[in-house]
Amino acid sequence: MDRIFSGVQPTGNLHLGNYLGAIRNFVRLQEGNECIYCVVDLHAITMWQDPDELRQSTREVTAAFIASGIDPKNSIIFNQSQNPHHAELAWIFNCVARLGWLNRMTQFKDKAGKNRENASVGLYAYPNLMAADILAYKATHVPVGEDQKQHLELCRDIAQKFNNDFGTEVFPITEPLILGPATRVMSLRDGSAKMSKSDPSDNSRLNLTDDADAIAQKIRRARTDPDALPSEPAGLEGRPEAANLVGIYAALSDKSIEDVLAEMGGKMFSEFKPVLADVAGVKAGPDWRGNAAARRRQCLYRQRAGRWRRAGPRTVRPGDA
Ligand code: TRP
Repeated sequence: MDRIFSGVQPTGNLHLGNYLGAIRNFVRLQEGNECIYCVVDLHAITMWQDPDELRQSTREVTAAFIASGIDPKNSIIFNQSQNPHHAELAWIFNCVARLGWLNRMTQFKDKAGKNRENASVGLYAYPNLMAADILAYKATHVPVGEDQKQHLELCRDIAQKFNNDFGTEVFPITEPLILGPATRVMSLRDGSAKMSKSDPSDNSRLNLTDDADAIAQKIRRARTDPDALPSEPAGLEGRPEAANLVGIYAALSDKSIEDVLAEMGGKMFSEFKPVLADVAGVKAGPDWRGNAAARRRQCLYRQRAGRWRRAGPRTVRPGDA
């Protein structure tokens, strides 16, 4: 049986991109695998966080996991900072990873920007902590987005060097799992930018907490071009907004892009958007809207009622099982 580990940072609103790119895959992977899903607040504090908001977001992401269908009876859901072994192993890995390896990390370069001298040391060493998350549980597979592939390569390098240096096979060489057609969901306002919680326009994203009306309205306002939908994927080239909406529709209705275009080719966006809004707002039902919203409410209710601890996450220690 494979052991899956993945982490999501508790920084603000979860949106469709998080859901289709990550959480939905987490749900599916539960079948036949041992799954561990972590809300990684120690990663979040590599950038400034308001402590109260961080605490709130940690609970919200946990609630969204459960609402989306991660079953806390079968999978482990927990908060990274509640288990000190992550930080401990990260220190050991700070002494295994080489400066040259970390210097290549493109995410650090992007996030630190021009003012690198003022970035936190944590932001720089972040990939070592990520390796510690994964290897503390000897996870064999990690579902991640494209943007995390380089960090996973580093995790493999660390495992290999540790094993070599100490003549052991203690750590597995973890494989990335990059799943599904719509792993990259783009902004509804700009088909060349990723859907993001930090975009100032709320119309650019579909939030996990939006109701069906809000979703329909955002899709109606989504940027498109004046042409009809093509009937084959090649016709989406150079049309990022069209490609994004088709990709979202395909992912939510579990169809291939080819099938969607065979069905929708020739339709104008005025016809396609209501169909998409329907799937996004209603039809995806248990997965993304219906039961998910209800379960999420129930879960938040339990938190408020002070029963969070009993209903909440379990912690496992490295070496368990
Ligand atoms: N770095 C990941 C991100 O920003 C989050 C993360 C932390 C993670 N630890 C992990 C993902 C371990 C997979 C496995 O998305």
